[in-house]
Amino acid sequence: MRLEGKVAVVTGGGNGLGRATARRFAAEGARVVVADVIDDLAEETSHMIAESGGKASFVHCDAVSANDNHRMAAHALETYGAIDVLVTAAGVSHPGYKSGDQEASTKWFTKRMEYLEQPANELLELELDDFRQVMAVNLDGTLLAAQACAAPMVEAGNGGAIVTIASIAAKHPDAGPIPYVCSKSAVWMLTKKLARLLAPSGIRVNAIGPGYIDTHMTSMIELLPEDRLTQFFSNIPMGRKGVPDEIANTALFLASDEASYFTGEILHPDGGYFTE
Ligand SMILES: NC(=O)c1ccc[n+]([C@@H]2O[C@H](COP(=O)([O-])OP(=O)(O)OC[C@H]3O[C@@H](n4cnc5c(N)ncnc54)[C@H](O)[C@@H]3O)[C@@H](O)[C@H]2O)c1
Repeated sequence: MRLEGKVAVVTGGGNGLGRATARRFAAEGARVVVADVIDDLAEETSHMIAESGGKASFVHCDAVSANDNHRMAAHALETYGAIDVLVTAAGVSHPGYKSGDQEASTKWFTKRMEYLEQPANELLELELDDFRQVMAVNLDGTLLAAQACAAPMVEAGNGGAIVTIASIAAKHPDAGPIPYVCSKSAVWMLTKKLARLLAPSGIRVNAIGPGYIDTHMTSMIELLPEDRLTQFFSNIPMGRKGVPDEIANTALFLASDEASYFTGEILHPDGGYFTE
């Protein structure tokens, strides 16, 4: 029960890494606010937690909306009286990404595979609006959630922990499209900046930079031609994708007192991707 008595807010808690984190945190005693832009998914996570004997509440939050983020923080305060932990798992891989819409994601990925043969076209065909959409969810969303939740944390004076979800793409340009890698490297810098600003308030801010984890976001990778797929897995010494619980466990460590001397750090659960 490493989070007993704590209140945790998880953005993007409706699916994938956010859902696994919300469930893990609740199993460790936290009362969890599950926030997502897709209400049904957030509600489903919240029910899963309740069914396992945990405490959770869900709230609508579009990561790009300052108002929604403030409502999310207010919901946590009204429901559970405090915020001790924030995990920002809301994110997109490409513009228009909808978690679970495999048909749309497949269409996007099929187009993207053309860039394997003509890499320059990834730059030449990029639309500024598409770039901004991804930056908005991944970067603005992280900033807005941190702003909204840090306010009551600073005011309460009890410290706390913020865990952002970056990616190996924060450091490696091959790990995603242009908007994605830019957004994730910016999330990593934001994490370090916030760590310095919030350390005097006793709030630790760390990032997780996952490798390829088996969620809706990465399911299209299997569509790669066989030689490319073999090459893809050869870049991961452990030879497999990770599973969401492996990220949830990392988030649990960073959110808990066991990580009391960690701030401004990024942990890479990536199966060895960064050993090169
Ligand atoms: N899966 C991976 O391999 C991997 C690796 C590195 C980083 N990440 C990051 O982890 C985070 C979670 O991704 P995932 O793999 O769990 O994908 P996922 O699709 O399973 O979950 C993403 C969640 O974010 C929500 N979301 C999307 N846009 C939102 C918005 N505007 N406002 C609020 N919620 C929104 C979705 O509804 C969904 O519930 C993302 O930031 C992603 O970039 C994933």
